[in-house]
Amino acid sequence: MAAESTKTESTEFTNPNIDVLFSAEQIAARIAEMGEQITREYAGKELVLVGVLKGSCVFLADLMRAIDLNLSIDFMSVSSYKDGQQSTGDVEILKDLSNPIRDKHVLVVEDIVDTGLTLSRLLEILESRGAYSIRLASFLDKPEPRIKKELMIDYVGFVIPNKFVVGYGLDAAGRYRNLPFIGVVRDPSAA
Ligand code: IMP
Ligand code: MG
Repeated sequence: MAAESTKTESTEFTNPNIDVLFSAEQIAARIAEMGEQITREYAGKELVLVGVLKGSCVFLADLMRAIDLNLSIDFMSVSSYKDGQQSTGDVEILKDLSNPIRDKHVLVVEDIVDTGLTLSRLLEILESRGAYSIRLASFLDKPEPRIKKELMIDYVGFVIPNKFVVGYGLDAAGRYRNLPFIGVVRDPSAA
């Protein structure tokens, strides 16, 4: 008979291959700050938050509840073609906005800006549609691999090193979006 094990099984949230970079508490505190800033800067204006699916869904859900303004939300889904983990800048719109953004103040909500290729192309598409203003909020900014150096991010949650991160909406091959924290995958081949 096997001796009773005192080792606790790891779960999805306690996966030993993932090191926590930002805890749920740190994320909540930062998002409250971002929400206050956005509330101040758009005071008296009507705002449309445009979430870029799928990665931004968790960030958008938290951020919108920290913005005390008259706002609406809409979503876009784009596929960025990748060579491995690197995007090529070719973007295909898989799902477009449900409503026009003409004469609206638009805040594009992204999970992470890496090379910036996907977002630059997306912003070009949106800029042809007659919005009053278009700004960008990204939960994470990974500046090291940036190719589009001119891309300005108006609201950044956290600046991170050049590591592959998951959780809080970000995935590795579809997995880990549900982690309530941001983690770094130790061994990507085992992720
Ligand atoms: P970019 O065109 O290189 O800026 O690619 C941005 C997209 O790549 C993001 O919206 C994410 O979907 C994905 N991405 C970039 N870095 C990471 C990461 O560290 N973890 C998970 N997804 C990432
Ligand atoms: Mg994305």
